[in-house]
Amino acid sequence: MRIAVTGGIGSIGRTTVAQLLAHGHDVRVLDRVPEADIAPDVAEKIRGAEYRQVEITDFHSLKGAFDEFDAVVHLAALASPAMGPEHVIFEINCGGSFNVYRSAADAGIRRVVSASSINALGHNYGIKSFPIRYFPIDEEHPDYTTDPYSFSKRVLEETGAYFWRREGISGVALRFPAVYDLSGERGSWWIRGAERRREALALLEQLPEEERMSRVRHVIERQDAMRAERLQEQPWEQQRERWEKMRREGPPPPEMMLCFGRNDFWASLNVLDAAQAIEKGLMADYEGSHPLFVNDSHNSVGVDSAKLVAYCFPGVTVWKRPVVGTETLVSYDKARTLIGFEPEHSIGHVHVTGE
Ligand SMILES: NC(=O)c1ccc[n+]([C@@H]2O[C@H](COP(=O)([O-])OP(=O)(O)OC[C@H]3O[C@@H](n4cnc5c(N)ncnc54)[C@H](O)[C@@H]3O)[C@@H](O)[C@H]2O)c1
Repeated sequence: MRIAVTGGIGSIGRTTVAQLLAHGHDVRVLDRVPEADIAPDVAEKIRGAEYRQVEITDFHSLKGAFDEFDAVVHLAALASPAMGPEHVIFEINCGGSFNVYRSAADAGIRRVVSASSINALGHNYGIKSFPIRYFPIDEEHPDYTTDPYSFSKRVLEETGAYFWRREGISGVALRFPAVYDLSGERGSWWIRGAERRREALALLEQLPEEERMSRVRHVIERQDAMRAERLQEQPWEQQRERWEKMRREGPPPPEMMLCFGRNDFWASLNVLDAAQAIEKGLMADYEGSHPLFVNDSHNSVGVDSAKLVAYCFPGVTVWKRPVVGTETLVSYDKARTLIGFEPEHSIGHVHVTGE
């Protein structure tokens, strides 16, 4: 297949491009970085792909970008609310995405796979909290977006639906959670983080129930206060200063450790499985435009999922279907059925073997 990948030198893009090349596809990478400025390790990873510099907010720069191609993978975006002011996030993630779909339609392309996010739900970065109705979370769960990044991902999903209705472009908008790369610098950080949260849970379980629940409630209130302060929308430097200050105050108490990841339900995904989901979204036989959660089959902590809910979402008592052991609280049942997605690099393996 001839596949054009926007944002193809980004952290998910470069692994996806490498995987598509390894599987024999012809790949064109489209990104706004001048070719000469691509870091040598990234250039090495995408070696074998053609490179073209584009600016997706400039419709004319996409002219001809998709001609002669069979499908598009659309990853280019500002990937968090900290990466720009609200209007710039909208301009790139929504306006830019529209330009990509429009240009793809003009080139006769009928399959686009794009990167939505678990944030399309609005629960993680949102400046307002809202009630979770049930577990496991699935695509039917109501969204409530109150930050520009999460909103942009819902708009992206609607853009895909519009181009299905109008132009017959089929595709999936993959709702990735935090994507980690165990081969990268932060690989060991992921493993250590899971260990520390398991230790935190063990400490919390030594406390009387009333004290444990009161401590967790306090953390949730603090998280909600940070939403109202729009901490996640502050530039990285400011966020880092805040985290550094907290670190100087001493190690986080166990209830805080446990609640890290609460806002995206302790879901995560190995970047190799993100690339796998993208390729399956390109190749599978389906019609229509579909937002799909794709994530690891286990929670990122390695403890009983029902326990995480009981402690950290005490108000949620509805289970849409049973969740067993450390099974993920974000269902990818729909992705399994539609595109045959099943994680192959699950952190569950790491929980069990420590490797
Ligand atoms: N990494 C994650 O944990 C994660 C989780 C959920 C969703 N996503 C989504 O997946 C996609 C890829 O994420 P990533 O982590 O690889 O991000 P990244 O920031 O590493 O890569 C994004 C790429 O898009 C390019 N880009 C940005 N604006 C552009 C523009 N205007 N024109 C052309 N190119 C532009 C950047 O140069 C960069 O190479 C994004 O859409 C992101 O929102 C990522």
